[in-house]
Amino acid sequence: LTNTEKPLFKSHEQINSVFVENEHLRCLREATAELPLGYMQIDPHQAAFIAFLAGAIKATKVLELGTFTGYFALSLALALPEEGRLITCDITTQWKTIARHHWDAARVSRKIDFRLRSASHVLNTLIAKGGSGTFDLVFIDADKDNQDEYFEKSLKLLSPNGLLLIDNIFMGKASIGSKQEDVKFSKDQIIKVRNLVNRIRNDKRVDMNILPIADGLALIRKL
Ligand SMILES: C[S@@+](CC[C@H](N)C(=O)[O-])C[C@H]1O[C@@H](n2cnc3c(N)ncnc32)[C@H](O)[C@@H]1O
Repeated sequence: LTNTEKPLFKSHEQINSVFVENEHLRCLREATAELPLGYMQIDPHQAAFIAFLAGAIKATKVLELGTFTGYFALSLALALPEEGRLITCDITTQWKTIARHHWDAARVSRKIDFRLRSASHVLNTLIAKGGSGTFDLVFIDADKDNQDEYFEKSLKLLSPNGLLLIDNIFMGKASIGSKQEDVKFSKDQIIKVRNLVNRIRNDKRVDMNILPIADGLALIRKL
């Protein structure tokens, strides 16, 4: 194959064969896979990549919207320095026991501040308490209906050069008008996310790159 013919990305099988996953993350992933909603978990490669970025920028203050069983939180907590802290929130305690069990097993619970609150509530509280401009990294992975608000408020909380990551930019296998059966998102949500991406592209406050990892990851830097 010439250079231009070579596929840009290797297959998942090839990546998996060289991917090293922390044992606590592996246990949590296996436990999550048994849940009916297990597909909601962040892709392990995505989590590993974001944890790597957090290390690269020496992040100490991280916010996650949408905890689920806590894979991202665990991945980041393992990467953060001793003084590092991650705030994460969810609107249900349904998966809190499993998350807490694995965070405890990995001895990183002290770095994780779980809040049983909506993403909106947590963002508003952090802003009201003077958190603007203090976060190194924010990961948006909650509901897809309020992404515009999450983007604006997260941007406010980020420090200059801080990183904002948004998952599911490709919105599953969905494309508008598609008849795919396993589409997880509504047409309205797909349109909203696409409009947001287009707006961010032209937003002078940020620089954005979209990475084709898993369901598409927007990597946004606050200028
Ligand atoms: C895709 S999952 C998150 C996956 C998680 N980040 C991980 O590491 O595996 C989305 C989560 O967002 C939560 N959620 C839904 N609406 C929310 C809201 N308004 N505020 C906060 N969390 C919400 C859901 O309960 C669910 O656990």
